Amino acid sequence: MCGIFGLITNQNVNIGKVALDGISRLEYRGYDSCGIVSQSNGKLEIKKDSGKIREIQEKLHLEKLTGKIALAHTRWATHGPPNKINSHPHTDCTGDIAVIHNGIIENFMELKKDLVSKGHEFKSETDTEIIPHLIEDNIKAGMNFRDAVIQTLKRCRGAYGIATCYAKNPEYIIIGRKESPIIVGIEEGKTSYCASDIPALLPYTKNCYIMGDDELAILKPGEVEFYDISNSVKLIEKQPQLIKWDVDAAEKGGYEHFMLKEIFEEPKAMKKTLKIAPKNLKKFATLLNSAENVYITAAGTSFYASLAGKFIISRFLGKYIQAIECSEFQTQLNNSLEDDAVIIAVSQSGETVDTIEAIRWAKENHSNIKILSITNIVGSSITRYSDHTLITQAGPEIGVAATKTYCTQVLTLALIGLEIAKMRKQIPDQDIDKYYKALKETPNVIEEFLNKNVENIKRIVDNLEKNANYFFLARGISIATAKEGGLKLKEVACRFIEGYSAAHAKHGPISLVREGFPIIFIAPPDETYERLIGNVMEFKARGGQIISLVVSDDETIAELSDITIKIPQPATKYYNLFSPLTFIPALQLLAYYAAIKNGLDPDKPLNLAKTVTVH
Ligand code: F6R
Repeated sequence: MCGIFGLITNQNVNIGKVALDGISRLEYRGYDSCGIVSQSNGKLEIKKDSGKIREIQEKLHLEKLTGKIALAHTRWATHGPPNKINSHPHTDCTGDIAVIHNGIIENFMELKKDLVSKGHEFKSETDTEIIPHLIEDNIKAGMNFRDAVIQTLKRCRGAYGIATCYAKNPEYIIIGRKESPIIVGIEEGKTSYCASDIPALLPYTKNCYIMGDDELAILKPGEVEFYDISNSVKLIEKQPQLIKWDVDAAEKGGYEHFMLKEIFEEPKAMKKTLKIAPKNLKKFATLLNSAENVYITAAGTSFYASLAGKFIISRFLGKYIQAIECSEFQTQLNNSLEDDAVIIAVSQSGETVDTIEAIRWAKENHSNIKILSITNIVGSSITRYSDHTLITQAGPEIGVAATKTYCTQVLTLALIGLEIAKMRKQIPDQDIDKYYKALKETPNVIEEFLNKNVENIKRIVDNLEKNANYFFLARGISIATAKEGGLKLKEVACRFIEGYSAAHAKHGPISLVREGFPIIFIAPPDETYERLIGNVMEFKARGGQIISLVVSDDETIAELSDITIKIPQPATKYYNLFSPLTFIPALQLLAYYAAIKNGLDPDKPLNLAKTVTVH
């Protein structure tokens, strides 16, 4: 949450424009206000306001800022509403020190009281503003800029990724990290950059230094020094990581929105993910196979991917996997987590604070616990707390609503399931081959569906949008699809949609159904199909408008439905197990076109940000 971008250069560049491009590439991290500070001739100049970056740019002409240093920020409000005063950068009393920050300083009230008693004047309601004032105090006490920042960070509890500059010090900028991500990219001898996420650095370099907790970096033009500040201050060596993403992957490439582009990228992302090295899958399979107790934890879309994945893995593992939302993990398992459990943590960003906290708590309190993580981001925080990590190959996902990363997560979990099946030899080899064949075909099924169904989905959206609420109902593994489809519609189209168990819906929710109330049934022809027919009938009998998602040669549920969406896949048990992959694009497209119809920006849903780094 919140995007940070900064640079220091000795080149003649349009620094305002570079800073503006940098935060524009991070706007998915927060978009309620933004600001840039530039430094030249011993002075800071700040332009900031509330609103989306484009609106602020049109009003304030951010690209006109000049100098050799700039720090830029795009905000997702935590402390204080999204207005001009609360937007970053924040400064000290002298106006010489500027700070941009992502995270929350938990002890800011106590620090603020102390600073106010010393005469500091605060302008904003943010927690961030205490940082420049603390630095100011330390400089007044005789410290140099670097030490003043270090001593400041040592007093701050909570999470931060910060960047700071000081008008009287044109030689370097400083960045620091604890829990909130920040990375560094260098154009040797020329320019040094920092950013909270990879897409902002892609136009400049593919070699990124990933900062760890309690690390600080001094950025000079084209060079960087890293320090460990956890105890005494120690200079440390860090190696850059090669990022394999293309800069084009973080551009819209002719699509109107990233969300649509990323849905259409699903087949390609899945084909790349299918190439995850078998030796890495084997590490997961071996640990899961020997574990007595297995848990899977995640948030949001990653949690629904986990629900689908645990269903597939449990099938082959012969053991039930407990899925627990990451924010509930510690509370629910406080007295019962087994010392030798294996936990799978799934997170696109690898930075979701509740997911990180769940595994960190488990690891700190249970010495033999093994953590297996699945993430899309190399070097992200989750990888540091994990015994083994698999990286999904979705490439950058810029749309705030997760789409292609969901598919690559489910696919990765399915690959782990099949690796376990091979290892356990409980089902015939020919069957395992058929499951593999079906899984490898899923990207083609999706491709065919996407190529042929856009107009169909738009028509359905036109029909549906007359109604305010509806249900997505399913049984078995498809409950995960119903929940994820419902989440997509809620977040991007702002409609209240409930993804629910079709069987359970008659224990209450069915009372909402009136003549014409739309219910979307997710109905692959698996072992739940016959019972689902019964559920369709129950809702039909009460006047519900039945929309069904079925395979191409479905006849029964299709016949009972008012509207049918057909997924071009064979009706075999091998494909059915992977239907969370092949059925989800229909619901993602539905959400996308519903957002467009409602005049909403599907890339920037209200009140959301892509990476949730607060509890
Ligand atoms: C929904 C969405 C969120 C994320 C959730 C977890 O479209 O994107 O629900 O899935 O915030 O994020 P990660 O996967 O980064 O841990």
